[in-house]
Amino acid sequence: MQHIAMLGSGFIGRFYADSLQGYRSKDKIVSIYSRREESAKKFAADYQVPHWTTNMEEAISRKEVTVVCISLPNNLHEQAVLLCCKHKKAVITTKPLGRNAEEAKRMLEAVEKAGIFNGYLEDLVYTPKFIKAFESVKGGSLGRILWAKSRETHPGPHSDWFWDIEQAGGGCILDLGCHCVEITRSYIGKDIKPIEVMCWADTQVKPIDAEDHAIGLVKYENGSIAQFEVSWTFRGGLDLRDEVMGTEGTIWVNSFLRTGFEMFTSGKGADYVAEKAESNSGWLFPVGDELNELGYNHMFMDMFRSLEIGKSPRETFYDGYVVNSVLDAAYKSAKTKQWEPVKLDIWRGRVGVSKDSHLQSYDNDHYLVKEEVTHYGAKKVILKNKKTGKIIERVES
Ligand SMILES: NC(=O)c1ccc[n+]([C@@H]2O[C@H](COP(=O)([O-])OP(=O)(O)OC[C@H]3O[C@@H](n4cnc5c(N)ncnc54)[C@H](O)[C@@H]3O)[C@@H](O)[C@H]2O)c1
Repeated sequence: MQHIAMLGSGFIGRFYADSLQGYRSKDKIVSIYSRREESAKKFAADYQVPHWTTNMEEAISRKEVTVVCISLPNNLHEQAVLLCCKHKKAVITTKPLGRNAEEAKRMLEAVEKAGIFNGYLEDLVYTPKFIKAFESVKGGSLGRILWAKSRETHPGPHSDWFWDIEQAGGGCILDLGCHCVEITRSYIGKDIKPIEVMCWADTQVKPIDAEDHAIGLVKYENGSIAQFEVSWTFRGGLDLRDEVMGTEGTIWVNSFLRTGFEMFTSGKGADYVAEKAESNSGWLFPVGDELNELGYNHMFMDMFRSLEIGKSPRETFYDGYVVNSVLDAAYKSAKTKQWEPVKLDIWRGRVGVSKDSHLQSYDNDHYLVKEEVTHYGAKKVILKNKKTGKIIERVES
């Protein structure tokens, strides 16, 4: 059973609390820290939390607290993590880990030096659809993964600090790209090194200093390519989609916007539909169980089970650090318009992985290019001679 100190009573703090306490869970929030007294009190009343405070260290240091959950604006993650180190409390923190890799690295080194449990709350690699898709990829159903794309776009975040580049650390690349990078990295293999990034970014709509729209490519050492598409200017709700392509198969996942649940209402009596839904009348796409569909339940299960049996969860501060490093390269590339190397001072995966051979033998003399049965019933094979390089076709009727 875990006794949680929740830091932050805003948007994600409440989603986490709903997941943590919404299913008759034995884990309880025992202290809530919020910047403002009225928010702390309201959260404490809503979730029956026995202690509230506007002093972060007071929440963290309480004797009964076994784990601290950081749900604060990006610029406050490091301060909170360092206090957890000081008081030797297990810590789990929302994404992104840092505003940049330098911050993330300091946090990673601090928790490891303090010897405390650390978990990175990347919920989108814990969604039921992701877990199923990932198992298929791991089991080889898609063969060698060539390309993995993840898209997260919506009409923009809901609090002032996100729109201030100093507090947030970036725009949609950091806010949404962190999800996409970890999703695609997981499909490709977390032990495979991301080596360079090419990124386009622009501020197309919002009156802000950060980017509100970006597309990026991340090249991995084994030749696989990842793609992220992110936007704070997308209209029509929260679009969360992944596509994975391998030598033996394909996966398309739509996690949120159009998942088979469609509803029409004139708007009379209309209520909350789903996160970032822009409308509550007309044709709507509600989400059955948001907490589960967004991965929060499976994520906390992994975090707390790992904590209790003394092992690392699937997502740790190290993963957060790798993600920040990839995103730093994306920001650099958006400026230089060049492929930029991913700088990873700490790398714990494989090294020197060469690009997998794409050559598939058909017989002793030929490689197979393609095999197909035509509409007129002929079986055609296209072959390449291993010695001469000549391409031929053979038709078997
Ligand atoms: N799917 C996800 O994993 C997901 C979704 C949304 C947000 N987040 C992350 O959660 C963190 C918090 O985002 P949010 O959407 O809950 O923000 P929010 O503005 O709704 O809430 C932030 C909370 O932090 C506290 N706070 C303390 N000091 C503050 C300060 N100086 N300024 C503002 N708030 C202060 C307040 O309690 C406030 O309610 C961010 O790091 C964000 O990236 C993650």
